[in-house]
Amino acid sequence: MRIFSGIQPSGAIHLGNYLGALKQWVNLQEKNECIFCIVDWHALTVPYNPQELQKSISEKLIAYLAAGIDPNKSIIFVQSQVKEHAELAWLLNTICPIGELERMTQYKDKSKKYKDNINAGLLNYPVLMAADILLYKTQAVPTGKDQEQHVELTRTLARKFNQKFSNKEEFFPEPDSIMPEYGAKIMSLTDPKKKMSKSDDPKSYISLFDAPESITKKIMSAETDSGKDVIYNVTKKPGISNLLVIYSLLTEKSIKDIETEFRGKGYGEFKKSLAQVVINYLEPFRRKKKEFETKDSYVKEILEKGQARARVIAEATMKEVREKMGLI
Ligand code: TYM
Repeated sequence: MRIFSGIQPSGAIHLGNYLGALKQWVNLQEKNECIFCIVDWHALTVPYNPQELQKSISEKLIAYLAAGIDPNKSIIFVQSQVKEHAELAWLLNTICPIGELERMTQYKDKSKKYKDNINAGLLNYPVLMAADILLYKTQAVPTGKDQEQHVELTRTLARKFNQKFSNKEEFFPEPDSIMPEYGAKIMSLTDPKKKMSKSDDPKSYISLFDAPESITKKIMSAETDSGKDVIYNVTKKPGISNLLVIYSLLTEKSIKDIETEFRGKGYGEFKKSLAQVVINYLEPFRRKKKEFETKDSYVKEILEKGQARARVIAEATMKEVREKMGLI
């Protein structure tokens, strides 16, 4: 299967990104043709600092590598280095109803959050995302729950394109979403009713590169619920349930087993143990970050190779798209 997914270089990459997306990618690359992108054009739709963009891109690449994405198996590249993404996005804009874009949850949330910066890019964001996916004739897209609606729109646009320009034959496959059973929506540590998000207060998320002291501090002060039993119940105990999911995914123990282990022990002891689990799990991330930061040319080479491989596929697709749409 051809797989495509991406992460925006905005803010710090966190446990939600890892458990919802990155962790799945590592397994998928074993048996599939995987393309993993750092989607820098998407990151420009909200306020950002141009001086920090390249640093953020490098940090995402290092996170991919540290998580176990293998550049010999998967294509890794930066979106803006393959211009066909923008070309296809423009063409798909011409078949995308505005109404579809206006009803997107992420657009509604972000236009509330950035009231002074509701730019056209924010509205058209899912069209660029559809272009990312369709450019590679992708069959499946592994993401967290928050991107499901965008992948659904991608299917709609693929169908529309095929109907209009391909005699109803399947030119673009309609890609499926792949989501983990648990972890598709990791919640904020400070408000477990909201998803963990890069653009929120750093206390609300654990970055993959956080120092051990910072991890302990954030977990010990994570919002928990009334009562003291460590029990999974999303409606009554959203805070503890979120921490249980993280514990379970990082240790591969079942939630039931963790509940049994902490029966009668209270939140404090559970959180202390979770902090240690997270610190140990993320130790290689911190180490590899230091290592890769000294290997500038190696990291650059990975992106150059990835970009060349991505471009071959993207150029072939665009040649066909232009012909189908009556362009030369
Ligand atoms: P981004 O950068 O916000 O997030 C990257 C990935 O992390 C997942 N994710 C989460 N999963 C679980 N719990 C959370 N709290 C959480 N927060 C984020 C996201 O679902 C995503 O998989 N639009 C995309 C980037 C993108 C893309 C694409 C993805 C652009 N083009 C094409 C796939 C295919 C985004 O903003 O992801």
